Amino acid sequence: MALDKAQQDALKLEVAKAAITYVKDGIIGVGTGSTANFFIDELAKVKHKIEGAVASSEATAQRLRNHGIEVFDLNSVDSLDIYVDGADEITEHLHMLKGGGGALTREKIVAAVAKSFICICDESKYVPVLGKFPLPVEVLSMARSQVARELVKLGGQPKLRDFTTDNGNIILDVHGLTISDPIELETKINQIVGVVTNGLFASRPANVLLLATPNGVKTLT
Ligand code: 5RP
Repeated sequence: MALDKAQQDALKLEVAKAAITYVKDGIIGVGTGSTANFFIDELAKVKHKIEGAVASSEATAQRLRNHGIEVFDLNSVDSLDIYVDGADEITEHLHMLKGGGGALTREKIVAAVAKSFICICDESKYVPVLGKFPLPVEVLSMARSQVARELVKLGGQPKLRDFTTDNGNIILDVHGLTISDPIELETKINQIVGVVTNGLFASRPANVLLLATPNGVKTLT
């Protein structure tokens, strides 16, 4: 049964609260999107425990600062214990498809620095195969047409999003993919000249999935 927005928001809040139990001290990596926003609001309640956060987008940085949480430049941080973020789709292997909010590149960079990626989702995001949600690919503007042609060769239908990323680039959302081997496709797309990164987070999957269901939050590792 499809959930309405209020029910989905209740699940996002529940899973955000569950993620707070992973917050110990130090600097926390924080993702982007509506589920991450619930996490930021919960993080604000325990901000005395932490030194601050590294943000995966300007929007997240702004929300953290509005709560009085110090935002650190990633270059001033050697490692992060945890990175907490949502996903657009996630499988039982904890491979993710992300970037619906357009922050995929910074998300991938901050996640790369973190020892543990904690993915927070409601159960609508848990899928057997990735690709029903269009795959975001961040691209340098001058390479748009060339990258689009290469993505068509891979079997997708790229559509330009009316959006500019925090890095000043464009996004092609690739429709029509059934992603049976996410690690292979992630690598192939990243090898196309002009691609900054793509929204497959499979080479470095999540370490923990906290999945909110109407029967409580399930933990998958
Ligand atoms: C942003 C992302 C988000 O994590 C993803 O889009 C999920 O967002 P939401 O929690 O709003 O459903 O990758 O770039």
